[in-house]
Amino acid sequence: MSAVVMDGKELAKSLRVKMKDEVAALKEKGITPHLTVVLVGDDPASKSYVNGKKKASAEIGMESDVLELPDTITEKDLLDLIDKLNSDEKVHGILVQLPLPKQISEQKVIEAISPAKDVDGFHPINIGRMMTGQDAFLPCTPSGIIAMLNENNIEITGKHAVVVGRSNIVGKPVGQLLLNENATVTYCHSKTTDLKSYTTQADILVVAVGKPHSIGEAFVKPGAVVIDVGINRMENGKLTGDVDFDAVKEKVSYITPVPRGVGPMTIAMLLKNTIKAAKGLDL
Ligand code: GUN
Repeated sequence: MSAVVMDGKELAKSLRVKMKDEVAALKEKGITPHLTVVLVGDDPASKSYVNGKKKASAEIGMESDVLELPDTITEKDLLDLIDKLNSDEKVHGILVQLPLPKQISEQKVIEAISPAKDVDGFHPINIGRMMTGQDAFLPCTPSGIIAMLNENNIEITGKHAVVVGRSNIVGKPVGQLLLNENATVTYCHSKTTDLKSYTTQADILVVAVGKPHSIGEAFVKPGAVVIDVGINRMENGKLTGDVDFDAVKEKVSYITPVPRGVGPMTIAMLLKNTIKAAKGLDL
């Protein structure tokens, strides 16, 4: 048996078609959704992600701008800029691309962004609202994963979901969203002993560790659904995930590829959050 390969690129494209109509309807009312991305320094991976966000915004008729700042910027100057963006009525969504240089506290920056403009869903208010099942800006990669499962009609209720990785951006929130969807959730991480004993129990396995080929064929249950969040650039310049795709796809029922998997869904969810911010979320 070979798995269904879930094509995030195609799915994100079809979501953008629907969002384009939503943006057009908002424009009729005089509201043009506007995303401001703040990019500090010149990390090539960050630049490439930011360009993807800008291109996708333009494609659906949204406005966006990218504020490029030197990596020598002080924390205070960055916080002052965020203050300005918070009170700029034209700006509906603010995204500060991470990671930030060492002299700047990422947590302080995240908490400085108005929760009503926090299209990344990283602010503690949005995280708390997500945890308590209230309306919130949901973090983009985790909500993209849920959208992918839903679009493929994959049942979540009652399933055992195992999340490998416990980052604030992906691992922790995706576990929470799966719990909100009635899965039974197990978290694994770098200190987990006998990882395989957990991953082989997973009906839905989400892998977000940032290490190529961490999950091989022996780590999955036959027929499982495997979501690979890793984006690792190899020495030959090619991108690869955290899962040994070729071996694992022969054993499972659904799998996401890298590239063309979760990555495009992350950007689609960012657009969705920006439209939601433009409509006005009461926070
Ligand atoms: N760096 C890597 N992923 C992300 C993300 O989803 N949002 C932001 N702001 N920075 C990132």
